[in-house]
Amino acid sequence: MNCSLSEAKKLASEIVNMVRDEVKSEAEIVLCPPFIYLIEINDLIGSSANISLGAQNCHQEESGAFTGEISADMLTSLGSKYVILGHSERREYFGESDELLEKKIKHALNKDLLPIFCCGEKPESREANDQEVIVSKQIEKALFSLSADEIQKVVIAYEPVWAIGTGKTASAEQAQEMHAFIRSKISEKYGKEAGDGVSILYGGSVKPGNAQEIFSQPDIDGGLIGGASLKSRDFTDIVKAIG
Ligand code: PGA
Repeated sequence: MNCSLSEAKKLASEIVNMVRDEVKSEAEIVLCPPFIYLIEINDLIGSSANISLGAQNCHQEESGAFTGEISADMLTSLGSKYVILGHSERREYFGESDELLEKKIKHALNKDLLPIFCCGEKPESREANDQEVIVSKQIEKALFSLSADEIQKVVIAYEPVWAIGTGKTASAEQAQEMHAFIRSKISEKYGKEAGDGVSILYGGSVKPGNAQEIFSQPDIDGGLIGGASLKSRDFTDIVKAIG
């Protein structure tokens, strides 16, 4: 929940221009602005080959009397390809459970919207060394009713809650360990090909200074960038670090 319309347009156009002029990476970049800026940001993205549009949430029902909510169809009609589901702030402040997220993910997939599913443990769970138990439950409840075809369309973002917006980043080893664990869970359930193929992003205080080390880990396929995406130079430098 950042930026006025003019600030959001300035930020997005700077990012689009910098990516076009400076970034050689083949990584896919997804800009996920607040709903009300999707149309404008989609126009700014234009035909940039490696930049897509995403939203930060959507409702689990097709349409109807759900005042204030936004449907998957609405998002695709504005050009969204992705939707973030289950961000820790949605879980924490809006009570979104894994059961609800399972419905949202299924509905988004039915509407050809690709979910970026967020999971991750709270500080107390990390302190108790329970992170694998927590993340396991989140993944089993929200994802394991998907078919083998459907799971291939899901991007997973591991976001330890203690690292989001706090300036505390998981160490590259901590992140790698959890990413390898998540990949092994997907492999166990859906087979090695599905496990190897799933994109697992790391989120939580990724900055230009730590991006390279994080992205160099074998099971880290990219990042979900919060605060640093509000500065075009920082965001572009992080994209460059993907290589
Ligand atoms: P951060 O946010 O990069 O500011 O920690 C990550 C997120 O919001 O997912």
